[in-house]
Amino acid sequence: MRTQVAIIGAGPAGLLLGQLLQVAGIETVILERRSADYVLGRIRAGVLEQGTVDLIARAGCDARLRQEGLPHAGVNLCFDGKRHRIDLAALTAGKEVVVYGQTEVTRDLMEARAAADARTVYEATGVHLEGFERARPVVHFRKGGIAQTLECDFIAGCDGFYGVSRQSVPEGALETFERVYPFGWLGLLADVPPANEELIYVNHEDGFALCSMRSPTRSRYYLQCDADEKVENWSDQRFWDELRRRLDPEAAAALVTGPALEKSIAPLRSFVAEPLRFGRLFLAGDVAHIVPPTGAKGLNLAASDVHYLSEALIEYYGEGSSAGIDAYSARALARVWKAERFSWWMTSLLHRFPENGRFGHRIQLAELEYLVSSDAAAASLAENYVGLPF
Ligand code: APR
Ligand code: PHB
Repeated sequence: MRTQVAIIGAGPAGLLLGQLLQVAGIETVILERRSADYVLGRIRAGVLEQGTVDLIARAGCDARLRQEGLPHAGVNLCFDGKRHRIDLAALTAGKEVVVYGQTEVTRDLMEARAAADARTVYEATGVHLEGFERARPVVHFRKGGIAQTLECDFIAGCDGFYGVSRQSVPEGALETFERVYPFGWLGLLADVPPANEELIYVNHEDGFALCSMRSPTRSRYYLQCDADEKVENWSDQRFWDELRRRLDPEAAAALVTGPALEKSIAPLRSFVAEPLRFGRLFLAGDVAHIVPPTGAKGLNLAASDVHYLSEALIEYYGEGSSAGIDAYSARALARVWKAERFSWWMTSLLHRFPENGRFGHRIQLAELEYLVSSDAAAASLAENYVGLPF
């Protein structure tokens, strides 16, 4: 098999890159370790920046997003039992975010790819990258027990944090930066109407909580929990009781409970690998960087990487210029680090850090008071939350 760009991973990064290149007439093959159903079964975040929405539109995959996505012009911060609204639109000259599940983004991209007859190999195992430091990279893999090779001009490693692409880079060529937080998020998805029309981020002295949603009839809630907590210890009832306790009285009264469709614990981590290019191999998305979910930047960062990378490859094939390719790593990383900073800051502001004690909690409350009483402070949050420009 031969293609122009071999893409490893059919998550949002790989699929969006594939679609943007497809629209530009560049041929791709995606190799994905899992089945399509497995990929679509993963519950992930659901807040899209305007830049991400625009990119999905450029890929021609925004029809359902325009119909079903919920535009949000504000978010809420709750502390000391009181809720305060941050008017995102007013603070950013009209910008908003759109609530639309990552699973839905993935489904729309998969359908567009199938309609375009672009090749995706699901359940491709043993993916092994070779020759990316030379002119003709090759990807080896197995499908249904049969060994195959894919020759290409470039490899895009879009295979997530545990993917093979980052691990294929020679030792010493990569520098990594990491912070692991001493807690996790316990998430619950349920077919109940959201407690509030907009998201509520809660700083409670017993820990963070978040009210989010997927649609007017499906809610997504989170509670800060210990890093080694077991999901089996959390009955639905215990989750709902603890969530209600951490909310302001109005949200607590509006909370509608129901059986969990899904309940899971996710660790919180900040991670960056540099650089993002090694000869003819590029890294994009979670394979290169992880943010804690506070601030909902994970998918949006994958999208901005893909924006820079697709432009670079389109320039290469269209004009024969390597300028975009040469600039890719630095351009993407500049934005990555700003989102790392914002996600770290929101995490630090809203969670309970036992090692910081009561002093740390008072400092958080002072900063939250400042945020909701100063337009200058709120504007900084708003500008980052709706997404810095690509
Ligand atoms: N070979 C082939 N595919 C692989 C391999 C491998 N060795 N390893 C991983 N994959 C696949 C995974 O099965 C997954 O479908 O790569 C895909 C990576 O997808 P994601 O983990 O969703 O990563 P990405 O596309 O970068 O999306 C980033 O996803 O987790 C969220 O917070 C994150 O929202 C952000 C977004
Ligand atoms: C979600 O809806 O899953 C979600 C929303 C906002 C976040 C994180 C997760 O900051």
